[in-house]
Amino acid sequence: MSARPLPTVVDRPRLTVVGTGYLGATHAVCMAVLGYDVLGVDVDPHKVDLLNEGVVPFYEPGLPEKLQDALASGRLRFTTDLDEAAVFGDVHFICVGTPQKPGSDAADMTYVDSAFTELARRISGRSLLVGKSTVPIGTAARLTKMVQDISPAGTDVEVAWNPEFLREGFAVKDTLHPDRLVFGVASEWAEAQLRAAFAPILAEGTAVVVSDLATSELVKVAANSFLATKISFINAMAEICETTGADVNLLAQALSYDSRIGGRFLKPGLGFGGGCLPKDIRAFAHRADELGVGQATAFLREVDDINERRRTRAVDLLRELVGGDLRGKKIACLGAAFKPDSDDVRDAPALNVAHMLHLEGAQVTVYDPVALENARRKFPDLTYADSLIGAVEGADAVALLTEWQEFRDADPTALGAQVTHRRLLDARHALDADAYRSAGWEVRAPGRPALSRTVSLVSDVRDEIA
Ligand code: UDX
Repeated sequence: MSARPLPTVVDRPRLTVVGTGYLGATHAVCMAVLGYDVLGVDVDPHKVDLLNEGVVPFYEPGLPEKLQDALASGRLRFTTDLDEAAVFGDVHFICVGTPQKPGSDAADMTYVDSAFTELARRISGRSLLVGKSTVPIGTAARLTKMVQDISPAGTDVEVAWNPEFLREGFAVKDTLHPDRLVFGVASEWAEAQLRAAFAPILAEGTAVVVSDLATSELVKVAANSFLATKISFINAMAEICETTGADVNLLAQALSYDSRIGGRFLKPGLGFGGGCLPKDIRAFAHRADELGVGQATAFLREVDDINERRRTRAVDLLRELVGGDLRGKKIACLGAAFKPDSDDVRDAPALNVAHMLHLEGAQVTVYDPVALENARRKFPDLTYADSLIGAVEGADAVALLTEWQEFRDADPTALGAQVTHRRLLDARHALDADAYRSAGWEVRAPGRPALSRTVSLVSDVRDEIA
């Protein structure tokens, strides 16, 4: 901790949020809703225009309404102008992406480094730069030196880390009412300034962990590693089930009653995807290797491999369902997003499976309630349908790949009337297998015997086993 006398803490700090993707846009909107004056910054003028007009450039339930409220309050604006942001903010949140580097497991730090340095070189007074992006351990310490060297304010610019744990689909709730806040700080001033920036959330009694910078960086990757490991654990059990005739769904249910294990993130199926878990566990393992402690995270490579195998297993099951050869077979792929209530197709298991089927010669038609546009951009060679019924028309097999409510609500008899063969792969264990069987469908699900016992497969909490 710094030995300097405590500099002034701004009681109601003005906030900037640099980077207005899933994380930054949600953070900017929610902080304005909580009563702060907020300036959002992005390099993309189109995105900035949309946000200023009250349009969220991605799908996130509840966020458009909150954006419109925040704009109407006059407390929120968006700009491309970093000069303006540097003058405006007392606390600057950096929310830019850390994607996987092409050809490597490491995180690409270009955007984080550039956001910190470009802002710091424009700052002349006491300010706090708070990283929210998921980064390799040691980044905050490295950036501290970098920004203090570059900024006219010198050591009056401090770096803190405040990892973000929001889930897409629940982003507003997770931001306004998080399970916990983590403040990675290097001084008492930084802690006090962060407490002022999160005062309404802290007033709700939200748990806060104040730590050194390295711990705060580690919390995020450790949390994501734990969640990924839990999913891959149950999916590894699915592999055992497949060779023994056991039922992974019943197994997960039985395990979930043990309060030490719990049912959340124990849902077997197609595994995890998205813009966080896969690349974060890879970057973590890569960083641990660099630090000479690679053995400590070696298990994460296996977690990743188990997860990838679920995708090829789904293709294997579909091949079996259609009689051993996918060439020329019409397969309806239900879902493209990496999970329901999101239009995010980054590392989406559903699209990965659809593409593998396509490469094997199947005639694939993909339908998703909201992610079609993003999917088309990523895989233009696949065929897309505008409706569920349109997708299944004439299908030799139907594959449920993302568990949207629309698919759970579908009527097996009505769907059955559209297909050529009533064959279903429920890769997410989301549908009522018995209802489909009663309607004449042959049903397969990874980790479940071909003719499984009747269990309730539908859960209200999507990441919880029923
Ligand atoms: C995740 C973390 O939950 C969040 O804390 C972090 O900030 C960002 O990464 P998100 O990527 O939005 O959030 O999705 P999440 O709800 O965690 O789901 C991740 C993936 O795991 C999805 O593809 C989902 O379908 C899959 N999943 C989840 C399972 O396969 N089984 C489960 O039991 C739970």
